[in-house]
Amino acid sequence: MAKKPSKSKVFPIHILNGPNLNLLGSREPEIYGKTTLAQIKKACTARAKDHGFSILFDQSNKEGELVDMIQKARTKAGAVIINAAAYTHTSVAVLDALKMLTVPVIEVHLSNPARRENFRHTSYVAMGATGTIAGFGLNSYLLAIDAVADLLGGKKK
Ligand code: DQA
Repeated sequence: MAKKPSKSKVFPIHILNGPNLNLLGSREPEIYGKTTLAQIKKACTARAKDHGFSILFDQSNKEGELVDMIQKARTKAGAVIINAAAYTHTSVAVLDALKMLTVPVIEVHLSNPARRENFRHTSYVAMGATGTIAGFGLNSYLLAIDAVADLLGGKKK
């Protein structure tokens, strides 16, 4: 009898983005680069496809909407990649939502918060994440997809 496909192969990787990331490209390009969120989405779609996965890509400037997206991922996602942006450093609500997930959760950041202002050194998201990738710009997202594929066993390139 054929093996049932795993949940991870059936459900997309949810890639969730927090406040102000909609303005990537023009927002503090000296820190975040010139890549737009649309370009990140395109690159993530291609990388996920290489591994045999699909993605759902979303962004919100509102904390409650991010919580709603994470709750939806409970039953609809094979894994979650999240750049909670400023809510990384403030949101217990985002952390509590992440803690309900049973799938892999990868925290990503374009910049490296550890070498920036002190208030960026605390991450609530990290407490609910499988692991964190930060400081590689667009590549942080692509490395996170590679990590998910490694954890879930994606098809090799
Ligand atoms: C960020 C880092 C956060 O500290 C900041 O608030 C952001 C973006 C990053 O991707 O580097 O909005 O998450």
